[in-house]
Amino acid sequence: MKMLAAPATVLALWAVSAQAATTDDIAKRLEPVGQVCVQGKECKGMEVAASAGGAGGAKTPKDVIAKHCNACHGTGLLGAPKIGDKAAWKARADKEGGLDGVLAKAITGVNAMPPKGTCADCSDDDLKGAIKEMSGL
Ligand code: HEC
Repeated sequence: MKMLAAPATVLALWAVSAQAATTDDIAKRLEPVGQVCVQGKECKGMEVAASAGGAGGAKTPKDVIAKHCNACHGTGLLGAPKIGDKAAWKARADKEGGLDGVLAKAITGVNAMPPKGTCADCSDDDLKGAIKEMSGL
């Protein structure tokens, strides 16, 4: 019996440490993958999430409008200038000294217009692109 018990213990210890080594290996192997994903380089399965606009990916004006601006500007809700109503947008642009003027208002928010039109992770350029697209200016 003693003859058998000793190797069994050794075997059990070996199994435990082998598993630990495997876990370490997995962690090491996952590490570079995590970095690659964060840097937005090749990372299978992640391109989709990145292009969905989450992690600072490039946004098209149409995406921004569809996701954030259309809710109000599509119908003129709360007195918002309507998409495509160039005259309404032009009157505002003239009053604020051009597109950059209304852009500044869109960033800070004005009356019922929420800051950045609810697109918190939009850059100024993203917002400007959306304003250009909506106003036709
Ligand atoms: C919750 C509704 C709402 C959403 C969402 C919204 N807007 Fe507005 N927006 C308004 C309203 C209302 C006004 C008019 C405010 C006023 O002059 O009283 C306005 C006005 C503006 C103006 C004109 C500002 C000025 O100086 O006259 C710009 C530019 C603008 N919005 C851009 C955007 C953009 C870009 C988005 C999407 C990223 C957006 N808005 C999303 C409601 C909204």
